[in-house]
Amino acid sequence: MFIVFDGIDGAGKSTQINLTKQWLEGRGQSVETLYDPGSTELGKSLRQLLLGEHEYPIDVTTEMLMFIAARAQLVAEKVRPALAAGKIVLCDRYTFSTVVYQGYAGGLPIEKIWQANQIATGGLQADLMLLFDLPADVAFSRLGSGLDRMESRGTAFFEKVREGFLTESKRFPVGVEVVDATQETEAVQATI
Ligand code: TYD
Repeated sequence: MFIVFDGIDGAGKSTQINLTKQWLEGRGQSVETLYDPGSTELGKSLRQLLLGEHEYPIDVTTEMLMFIAARAQLVAEKVRPALAAGKIVLCDRYTFSTVVYQGYAGGLPIEKIWQANQIATGGLQADLMLLFDLPADVAFSRLGSGLDRMESRGTAFFEKVREGFLTESKRFPVGVEVVDATQETEAVQATI
């Protein structure tokens, strides 16, 4: 089973993934936790390029293709083998993130990004996508200092991210559950 945790930065995805992993393992399940991008060697390198500070520009189309390239490697190298081995895969971000960050917030055509996602994943979709929803200003205030390249884009960008996730989850509601991430950690975990 393939479960994706996605949503705006600051929504508490990482904490919830760890708690869910513990809960599932406590029930005898074999669980693999993955980060998109980041759980392959190529993904780590791309993640550094995408989120670190550098002195040259990265065009939004290039950025989209880099996230998508990291995803293609992740699916081939990690997700498919783990699923074939009968594991439950918990993945931090997946296809919706690129549609929302580089499409809704970055201005690229939504359908083109879905096509690129299709190429990268070979059509592999999550069995369940948990969308962590939170008002943009609350999400932004949770981030504190030390923002990465995406996070430093400000509240207007975050507002588009939130709206993008909600809009896409209504367009493709099958297998998508919206989780109210304003709740306390324990309450969110209980919902999951
Ligand atoms: P995330 O993995 O949530 O990083 P962290 O929790 O360590 O800050 O996300 C990294 C950032 O990359 C986040 O701001 C969202 C952005 N992102 C995109 O812009 N497009 C994408 O396709 C993906 C997967 C992430």
